[in-house]
Amino acid sequence: MLVVENLVVRYGPVAAVKGIDLAVGENEMVSLLGANGAGKSTTLLAIAGAIRPHSGRILFDGADITGMKAEKAVAAGIAMVPETRDVFADLTVRENLLLGGFIHRRRRAACEQEMESLMTMFPVLRERMHQPGGTLSGGEQQQLVIARAMMARPRLLLLDEPSLGLAPLIVNHIFELIERLRRTGIAILLVEQNATKALQAADRAYVMSLGTIAMSGTGAEVAGSSDLESIYLGRSG
Ligand SMILES: Nc1ncnc2c1ncn2[C@@H]1O[C@H](COP(=O)(O)OP(=O)(O)O)[C@@H](O)[C@H]1O
Ligand SMILES: [Mg+2]
Repeated sequence: MLVVENLVVRYGPVAAVKGIDLAVGENEMVSLLGANGAGKSTTLLAIAGAIRPHSGRILFDGADITGMKAEKAVAAGIAMVPETRDVFADLTVRENLLLGGFIHRRRRAACEQEMESLMTMFPVLRERMHQPGGTLSGGEQQQLVIARAMMARPRLLLLDEPSLGLAPLIVNHIFELIERLRRTGIAILLVEQNATKALQAADRAYVMSLGTIAMSGTGAEVAGSSDLESIYLGRSG
């Protein structure tokens, strides 16, 4: 479904991603791990069309989408939840969700219907429907941005550190939610600092270090690798 070939992404003279290859299959859950600054967010942003790659190719269902604008990537079926968790604080939960649908020009009736069917998976959002987004807790805001991305009916969901800054119980809840989303048939590329949980949840995983892929394998293989710690500490980048 998603194939990334020899992707290089630069910020001016600095290469943040230095020629990586990765793939996500239909309905697959793939984790992208690595220490702070490894290039994980940059990789997701390039796939989502938010940053233009310097070189390499990004293929989605065999079509070359390299350098495609973010709106077009959404239309093609790729939605991203950035780590900034950008809830529109003054808009209600409902307005936040509807915007997620309008952004890619879906009709209001279709958006309302989508919102209704999503609410079975996000019951807390239904309770908060008419509250401003800014009044939600951190965990609820994370659910809101995930639900907002789902309003675009993506086939591939890119999640950047959804558990960041959340209490352990809330983190468990977010992981359960991700698992449920995955059971709806979509593919997920999950960036996480919480390696243990991400590896348990994932079919496969890649570990980035200093802009390169230092290790890959099934979740269990990567979790069991004696190199994992040293890669995180940047000793084998
Ligand atoms: N907007 C930016 N401008 C310049 N450098 C950046 C920018 N964003 C990230 N970087 C640099 O690119 C590298 C990779 O960052 P990032 O993709 O955010 O890593 P990760 O998500 O793995 O923590 C880091 O060295 C970071 O400092
Ligand atoms: Mg990041």
